[in-house]
Order: sequence, then structure tokens, then C-alpha cells
Amino acid sequence: MAKIGVIGIGKLGLDCAEVMAEKHEVRGYDIYPRTSDLVKVCDINEVVNESEWIFIAVPTPHAEGYDGSVPSSHMEPRDFGHDAVIDAINNINKYARSSKKIVLISTVLPGTTRKKFVPLLDPTHQFLYNPYLIAMGSVKWDMVNPEMVIIGTEDGSMTGVAGELIDLYRTMMENDPRYEIGTWDECESIKIFYNTFISAKVGLVNMVQDFAIKIGNINVDVVTNALARSTMRIMGPKYMTAGMGDAGACHPRDNIALRWLAQEYNIGYDLFDTVMHAREIQARNLAEFLVQQAGKNMSIAIHGKAYKPDVPYCIGSYSTLVGHYIKEMGHNVVYLDPLADDSTDVVKDLDNTPHVVLWAHNRKITYEYTGNQADTQPYCEIPQGSVIVDPWRKLGLTDKHTIIHYGNTRA
Ligand SMILES: NC(=O)c1ccc[n+]([C@@H]2O[C@H](COP(=O)([O-])OP(=O)(O)OC[C@H]3O[C@@H](n4cnc5c(N)ncnc54)[C@H](O)[C@@H]3O)[C@@H](O)[C@H]2O)c1
Repeated sequence: MAKIGVIGIGKLGLDCAEVMAEKHEVRGYDIYPRTSDLVKVCDINEVVNESEWIFIAVPTPHAEGYDGSVPSSHMEPRDFGHDAVIDAINNINKYARSSKKIVLISTVLPGTTRKKFVPLLDPTHQFLYNPYLIAMGSVKWDMVNPEMVIIGTEDGSMTGVAGELIDLYRTMMENDPRYEIGTWDECESIKIFYNTFISAKVGLVNMVQDFAIKIGNINVDVVTNALARSTMRIMGPKYMTAGMGDAGACHPRDNIALRWLAQEYNIGYDLFDTVMHAREIQARNLAEFLVQQAGKNMSIAIHGKAYKPDVPYCIGSYSTLVGHYIKEMGHNVVYLDPLADDSTDVVKDLDNTPHVVLWAHNRKITYEYTGNQADTQPYCEIPQGSVIVDPWRKLGLTDKHTIIHYGNTRA
């Protein structure tokens, strides 16, 4: 039986503490008077000193008017408040007479734990970031039937204390959840972007509802149910690898045309514009990265000009969008692609000087769903000393080239 303390026994913390108390000895502390038949509510000194594990479930509140119940999209962006977490950490530092295992549950934005919390914590303690995917109304059930348990460590490795936390959860879980281990920052991201995916999904289906009302002869459920049954591309892991942007003969132009439809039916917002704008800025960010890598002395080449491997079509190509921004930044760019149907700036070979090469094509990722696992082979000899920027993060290390996995900033 483990000795557990919970700081912050509110809507989340109390129910979770009571679930833990079915198997373990649990104490709770809160700045407001709380009662429980299962958890011993006591002062902070006792919670800290009588517990080997200390879970922090204090609020990280939004500012007034930022909960989504009134319009806020016109207001200045604001971070959550961190005072209560800082207060909990200060209390642990102040009262603990031995090393503790600290588990922060509260929701924070990516980067917060490393920048704001860990530097404050006495280094004799061990720290994990462990946000919960729990919904009001089903806290106790969610706690023991989670889709996944997210555990953040400093470098993203499975540390001893992370393993101990998994062992502790195994004593409580009713299902057999996935345990996702990452850096503190990755785990903050998993939690918060999980919620964003839900918001985006709801925003999209409700947009179809808005079009149904405005256009007529559309039952939104016929449309969304057909999409919901589309497990090949939409409802599943496809398109969940970050890399080059959406491209081709259909997707970009469909969204660009849908901007017109949103205006025509006076929908009042334009998600297509937002999606296409983000796509353009993402291409510009990638271009900027390539230009920075190239500095003054290196040339830039994009490996793949057609919008995907094995086809000649350059229509809607994200490679040329990236190339557009590279040129706009005053840098030259050439493309390598034996099939491209647009030969502008396409070269067969690179001269023997080191280049910065964007590895745009990855046929394994593009065609994986067909069962075709063959990898992209270089379209020409890539000169020794070149820097290959791989937006798909799949290329292995070589002696000949420097490989940069774009999107992986782990130390
Ligand atoms: N409620 C949920 O369903 C849910 C789900 C997932 C994550 N979260 C996150 O968990 C955290 C807590 O959420 P909640 O809904 O339980 O909030 P809450 O406000 O209901 O509970 C927090 C509790 O902490 C107490 N508290 C405040 N400052 C304190 C301090 N300095 N020391 C000790 N106790 C203090 C409060 O009195 C309150 O009882 C938030 O970061 C929230 O985003 C909540």
C-alpha cells in the first residue's frame, strides 16, 4: 500500500484521491475546507511528510472571460495562471523532510513545466508531469479507464520513478491503458493538443451543419456519418505524421474554392482560409529554416517537385510553395525530380559542393496504406557534406551528410 498525498482536492483532485484511497493510504490538502469519507483531509505539513507520492491537482485558471462561455476570440491571448502550482511547489520545498515523488496533474501549456516549475523545486525531489484526460461527470470512471496515461520526464526516457508510477497505476486501473512517455514538454503537448483535436473536430462538423442550414437539401448527419465511417484516411492514423503540407490536384484547390462558398452563403467565418493560411505560413517557416541552414555559402535543392513521389504532377505542390518563399527570401532554389511535369528550375544533378537538401518526397509514408513499403531512393548523388533536412524524420545517420530531422527539437 503506497502513501499518497494530493494537494488540491477540488473537482478533479478529490475524486481521483478517493479512487486512489480504495487501494492506498491517501491524504489530501486544500486551501478550502473539504471533506471525504475515504481521504484523510489534513494540513499541508502532514500531507507532505506522511506521503511518498505527492500529486498536485491545483487549478491553473484562465483569466476572467476566457472560458469560452462568452465571446473571447477578439481578446488578447492569455496564458493560464500558475500561482497555485507555484504555491504547492513552495510548500513541498518548505515542509518536506525527505525526498518525495512529485506528480503534477494540472493542465499547463507546452514549455511551462520546464521554464516555470522545475527550477523552483528542490532538486532532492523527483518530478513527473502527468496530465489527466478526464471529463467532468465521469471523473472516477475516467481515472481508472483512461485511453492513455501520459507521463513526462526531463529527457523523455522511462526513468525509474516513471516506472514506479506505472506500477502504482497498475494497482488501480480497470482497463489496461497505454502508457505514453515523453519529455515534460511533449506530455504538455499531448494533453493540450488532444483537446485541440476535439475542438477542431467539433468545429468542422458544426461547420457542415451551418452549410446544411444555409444551402438546403442537406441532412448534416448523412454527411458527417459518411465521413465518420471513412477509416482509410480520416478516422485513423493516416495524415498524423507531420511533414510536408497538404498538396495535390484536389485538396488545396478545394479549400481555396470553399472560401468562395463560405462567402456566398454568408457562413460568417472561413475555416478554409485559416487552414490554407496556416499551410502557407508553415511552408514559409520551413523555407526560412532551409535558408538559415544554407547561410551565405550553400545552395538549396528540393528533393521532389511533384506534389508526391512516383507521379509527374506539380499541380498544388507544397515543394514549389516552399520554393516560392525561399526565392522571396532572396535565395536561389533548384528541384530534383526525374518525373516532374514542370521542368522550371529542375536539375538532373547537383554540382559537387555541399547543398542544403529538403527531402520532400517520402514514398513509404505516402503509399504505406497500399501496402507498398519501398523507400524513396535519391534522384541523384547528394554531394558529400550536404545538410539533408528531412521533414518526415525517417532518414538514418550517414558519414557523408548531416541529417536534420525537422520537427524533432529534443536535446
Ligand atoms: N476538472 C477536470 O475535469 C479536469 C480534467 C483534466 C485536467 N484538469 C486540470 O486539473 C487542474 C485542477 O482542476 P479542477 O477542475 O480540479 O479545479 P478545481 O478548482 O475544482 O480544484 C482545484 C482545487 O485546488 C484548490 N487550491 C487552489 N489553490 C491551492 C493551493 N495553493 N494549495 C492547495 N490547494 C489549492 C482549490 O481550493 C480547489 O479545491 C486544472 O489544471 C485543470 O485544468 C481538470
